[in-house]
This record gives sequence, C-alpha cells and structure tokens, in this order.
Amino acid sequence: MRNLNQDTITQAVIARFAQTPEPRLKEVVTNLVQHLHAFARETHLTEAEWAQGIEFLTATGQKCDDQRQEFILLSDVLGLSMLTVAMNNDKPQGCTEATVVGPFHVEGAPHYALGADVANGAVGQPCLVRGRVLGLGGEAVPNAVIEVWQADAAGNYDVQYADLAGHRARGVLRSDAEGGFHFRSIVAEPYPIPNDGPVGELLKATRRHPWRPAHLHFMIKAEGYETLTTHVFRNGDPYLDSDAVFGVRQSLVADWVQQPDGMFSLDFDFVLNPSSHD
Ligand code: BEZ
Ligand code: FE
Repeated sequence: MRNLNQDTITQAVIARFAQTPEPRLKEVVTNLVQHLHAFARETHLTEAEWAQGIEFLTATGQKCDDQRQEFILLSDVLGLSMLTVAMNNDKPQGCTEATVVGPFHVEGAPHYALGADVANGAVGQPCLVRGRVLGLGGEAVPNAVIEVWQADAAGNYDVQYADLAGHRARGVLRSDAEGGFHFRSIVAEPYPIPNDGPVGELLKATRRHPWRPAHLHFMIKAEGYETLTTHVFRNGDPYLDSDAVFGVRQSLVADWVQQPDGMFSLDFDFVLNPSSHD
C-alpha cells in the first residue's frame, strides 16, 4: 500500500471501496475508477492537462445557476445525455422514440384548452399542430397531459429573456376522448445551444458548431403508460445530421407544411409504451 505505482494503483483504489454497503453505489464507483484510470493511461494524461481539465470543470460548475446548467450541457455535447436516454428508453417497435429533455423544460407552464395559441406572443410564423396520443395497440389515450415548448424565431426560449412576464411558446394541454389534440404555435427554427460558457469554448476549440435542428418539444404523461419525453424535428433542416447534442431520430422527423393561406401545419401522432406492472 505504500509503494503503489501506475500498475497497481487502480486495484488499490477499487479495493478501498470494497466495503461500500449499497451494491449499486459500489458498482458505479468501481467502474468509474476503472474507466477514469484507463482514460488517463490510454491518453498518457500529463500533469498540465490534468490541471487544465480541473480548471475546465471548475469553470463549468461556476457557470451554473438557477437558470443555467452547464454540466448538463457538457453531458449533452459529449453525447452522454443521449446515450443515457437511448439505454433507458428501449421501447417496443411502434412506440414513439424518446430524446433529450434539454435545459428549457420548466415546471408550472400555463394550461391551455385545445385549439389555443400557446405562442402567447412569441415571434414566429403561425402554425397549427395536430395529432393523437395512442397506445401501442392503436387505442386512443384520452386525457393525456401534453406539455409542449419551443424556441421562438430568434432562437430563444422564453426563459432566456430576462425581462419577460409570463410564458411564451410553451403550454400544457390535455388530449380529448379520442386521444386527439390540436393547438396553435409558431414554426420551429434551428437555434444554437448556449455557447457563452466553457462548453461553448470546448465546441470552438474542437471546431464543432453549436446548432440544434428545428424542433418542438413534447412531454406526454398518461395513466398506465410510461412518460414520453421527445421532440418532433423539422424535415429539411440543415442540422438534422449534425445536431450539437446528438438527439435526432429519423422517426421523429416530420414536415411543417405551408397551407394556401400561409399558415403552416404539423401533423404528428405519438404512441406511448404501456407501463410495466411487475
Ligand atoms: C433543447 O433542445 O432545448 C436543448 C437540448 C440540449 C441542450 C440545449 C438545448
Ligand atoms: Fe430545444
């Protein structure tokens, strides 16, 4: 124990966690040490690089406040958020796929009747969104709680404006007896993820762009079904193949169609996975 070297230290650290009573914590911390040490060995991490890494993580923490979660953003651009979503939402064929929730979901969004305009003054081209919430067998899911949120035409969510009173381009609706829903909003446009912090610096240094393809967020909750957190992505968007946070699924890409009166429409049905009762 006094003469640990680069070949023996990993096992010594793992052994130090051997008495962890909670089995899952023991597994997580053991794997963390194993993989962290393997990363340092394989990259031949220098002391200067270690210090730079610590500085980066410190700056990431310092950027966080009530409105900004720079660590989640880091997880997003490293693909860890989407990997975690993919591993934990392996639903049966036919169910709508899940994707990242993102940092702009908020509790307490306003409730609207079907047909209402959730834009509530947000700038953008007017759009009608329609669809149904269904179960895996095609059955209607009535009274589902449907939360929607999106950026405006300037690429900002309402919560990114410091002086905005009330919510814009977000709301909560309920599906009708046939599982149907419809509401007005604005057309989704691409926008850059927040990039004025350490994560933005990382993107710049690695020549990566910060853009997300245009999308509309949904979170759908219904009794007897797993909660679905997803987006609908806008077909034709230039960033569909290079989403900064790796969230795109082909099954979630749909057309916003311009109607003769100039209004756009989006039609999309959601299929929920029944909850397991084991
Ligand atoms: C979003 O879609 O709102 C989002 C997701 C991940 C990072 C930043 C934004
Ligand atoms: Fe978004």
